[in-house]
Amino acid sequence: MNILFVCLGNICRSPMAEGIFQEKVDRLGLDVSLDSAGTGNWHVGEEPDPRAQQTTRKNGIDISGLRGRQFTAADFDRFDRIYAMDASNYENILKLAETDEEREKVRMILNETHPGQNLSVPDPYFGGDEGFNGVFAMLDAAADKVLGELK
Ligand code: 4NP
Repeated sequence: MNILFVCLGNICRSPMAEGIFQEKVDRLGLDVSLDSAGTGNWHVGEEPDPRAQQTTRKNGIDISGLRGRQFTAADFDRFDRIYAMDASNYENILKLAETDEEREKVRMILNETHPGQNLSVPDPYFGGDEGFNGVFAMLDAAADKVLGELK
């Protein structure tokens, strides 16, 4: 199973999701490959935002090795499941989908913990540390749900 996480910049929410899921995948010994990407291209090649790194680090997760990249249509071939962090990411991913099979791979990540509600993980980029803590908690719960079902 190959899973991709997508946000806007690929420096806050989606690399946090990748790191949180990766730690659990490793601990559970699951055969799941993970990656993350952004719909925008401003932060291609960059490390995760320092606040994202600090928030994950204090929870025992190192995401310093991740680098930003942009989502492309080729990702529909490489991944079985594509998780959007918010409604705008979801729309932008779907704009690049060409088949129903591709469209069916795309999900809002918080629908895993709040089915059918289409809630967004709030963009923490322009806020303070508490935003990052909130994002961590939401993604940690989503990871437990998703990986619990794949076990
Ligand atoms: P992310 O956060 O989508 O969670 O990585 C953002 C990072 C950068 C920008 C916006 C959101 N930006 O406008 O540069």
